[in-house]
Amino acid sequence: MQTHTLLMPLDMHLHLRDAVMLENVAPLSAYSFSGAIIMPNLVPPVDTKEAVIAYKERIMAAVPNDFFEPYMTLFYKNYDKKFLLDVEEDITAIKLYPAGITTNSEGGVSSFDIEEMRPTLETMAELGIPLCVHGETDGFVMDREAEFMSIYELLAQNFPTLKIIMEHITTKAAVDMLDKYENLYATITVHHLLLTLDDVVGGMMQPHLFCKPIAKRPEDLDALLSIALEAHPKVMFGSDSAPHPQHAKESCGCAAGVFTAPIALQLLCEIFDQFGKLDNLQDFVSDNAQRIYGICPEFKEVTLEKRTFVVPENYGGVVPMFAGEAIGWAIESVD
Ligand code: DOR
Ligand code: ZN
Repeated sequence: MQTHTLLMPLDMHLHLRDAVMLENVAPLSAYSFSGAIIMPNLVPPVDTKEAVIAYKERIMAAVPNDFFEPYMTLFYKNYDKKFLLDVEEDITAIKLYPAGITTNSEGGVSSFDIEEMRPTLETMAELGIPLCVHGETDGFVMDREAEFMSIYELLAQNFPTLKIIMEHITTKAAVDMLDKYENLYATITVHHLLLTLDDVVGGMMQPHLFCKPIAKRPEDLDALLSIALEAHPKVMFGSDSAPHPQHAKESCGCAAGVFTAPIALQLLCEIFDQFGKLDNLQDFVSDNAQRIYGICPEFKEVTLEKRTFVVPENYGGVVPMFAGEAIGWAIESVD
């Protein structure tokens, strides 16, 4: 039986939600990942020091062991230096959402006025706090990410020492932007390494594959695969696993988000194996992120086996991607 071992897998973009949902999904990530960057788009958003600390405590209480590090983020606003100095120790990054662009982002940034943002972003650069960005405009849905490239350029040029992470990139335009500026990095989800828009709406509509940003064209998928499979040094795995209750997905007005946390490593092994690139997976799921973020996760060793694994129909009322379908790799052990 072919096996593959990953050390300290990291999920650099994860939604854990709160309350009952948090208790349901946090153990699934804690089982196979050493840590994750936790998204702050709760209601209300995580935008105070107290909220960050309290949310981290609720996450720790929801995971069954201590071998999972929630790397906390703060919801971006134009914060002053005093506040940033006070909260610096409690966070790993700050997450910027354009206002209203996705789930619970109404309090996000409504105009990208560089001078208004300068004090905050300069302080973040000075303190070494990375800026994670949901990079979409409110334009036509297939063009939103490509249109946002000019904003990434503006940010990258104006704040050359700020680490800017283009979250969940889905386009060739974003792949091409990556090497244009030294301070730009990216995360890629597992679903965007598998899907195009055809899979979402080309046949019967698939609500469990609907997310923001939406999966794009075949040439975009190829571009994403080209940098992920080579584990480009500025690219990290970030699942953007975004659980919603089954009724919120299978409804008129489907919530955006693909739930992948419990099957992400299995799918990544399958993809990298298919392309003969398993040796690059360690960099993609951990080493690049450790270097880019300067983090040192606790030891965890996950061994996967090349055998059929049938994805469960649901996890506590949340339907995962590929529910009920067979995938080619399974988790064998976690130490
Ligand atoms: O599909 C998405 N779901 N994209 C996001 O940016 C947010 C996420 C969520 O929180 O549900
Ligand atoms: Zn997200």
